[in-house]
Amino acid sequence: MTDLLNEMLPAIEAELQKQVARLDVPRTRVYHDMLTYHMGWTGDGAGPDATGKRIRPLMLLLTAAACGKPDWQTALPAAAAVELVHNFSLVHDDIQDKSEKRRGRTTVWIKWGMPQAINAGDGLFVVANLAMTDLASSYPAETVVDAMRILQNTCLDLTRGQFLDISYEKRADLGVEDYWPMIGGKTAALLSGCNELGALLGGADQSTREAYRAYGQYLGLAFQVQDDILGIWGDESVTGKSAASDLLEGKNTLPVLAGLGKKGRFAARWAQGPIQPSEVADLAGLLASEGAYAYTHDTARQMTDMATNSLREADPQGEAGQLLMDLTDRLLKRDS
Ligand code: IPE
Ligand code: IPE
Ligand code: MG
Ligand code: MG
Repeated sequence: MTDLLNEMLPAIEAELQKQVARLDVPRTRVYHDMLTYHMGWTGDGAGPDATGKRIRPLMLLLTAAACGKPDWQTALPAAAAVELVHNFSLVHDDIQDKSEKRRGRTTVWIKWGMPQAINAGDGLFVVANLAMTDLASSYPAETVVDAMRILQNTCLDLTRGQFLDISYEKRADLGVEDYWPMIGGKTAALLSGCNELGALLGGADQSTREAYRAYGQYLGLAFQVQDDILGIWGDESVTGKSAASDLLEGKNTLPVLAGLGKKGRFAARWAQGPIQPSEVADLAGLLASEGAYAYTHDTARQMTDMATNSLREADPQGEAGQLLMDLTDRLLKRDS
């Protein structure tokens, strides 16, 4: 890892712990435990593999640094906030998707029950918003309000995306054109918010901010397309999530929509109703043989190319700029 990443990642972790400690109160100790468990710090399986990749805060800080801000540390509260928003959305998403595994561990709702897991997600969301107020010690109030507005609009887009995702389950009349607004909301909005916040807090001008926003949007689309690939053909022991669940849940992911468009044997089986666990492996193979894997992979490549073009337009500087370029390509090749 480079010197800069070696500095940023521990700084992100320390800031996250500081923010989550707002809920470290004796009478509600278990509430705090739920949050520290989900964040990967405590409980069975805690450790570096349980924290996730921390891509979003890294994007935010790298963008601030690539805009020529040497003291990226002042943006740490916002970096913590985007990761907390992400984790709030994961705790709720695992309930919504009935997922039993996250980052290789039992999900919060399986461990503590659905009502308390909803509460844990809410706690992470509130802590995220409180974290943003800490920007006030380094930035003018006007910038803090702008930053909070960007984050809240992002959250609104994220929940709209989740609404579409859930409303699409088990529908048979959707096409690829229905897919983009859904993932644009549930995944790309937050990534693009990270880059826009990084540019704002890095002191970038309006056109540079817009280029970073577009970069994050395309990167987020590529990221979710790759997540869809991993959700069907990924290795569970590497992703830490069940590879079968997207097909079992009847999710209209890009590979599925591509497969339906072929009107072949996959489409015929999908139309007959819910997929059974015993069919998943064969169906994933069938979907690949009908061209859905190749199509989805090409699409992720195209979105990554668009992201790279926007990033070039933003003209990122220095070591952080180089890291953003490298990361963009590495996310396309990720297997977890
Ligand atoms: C998973 O995001 C959810 C999506 C939006 C695809 P990540 O793949 O960034 O999850 P972690 O934080 O690294 O576990
Ligand atoms: C990711 O949704 C988006 C959010 C959590 C907001 P998915 O349901 O596609 O992601 P995974 O595969 O569970 O991580
Ligand atoms: Mg989901
Ligand atoms: Mg999910």
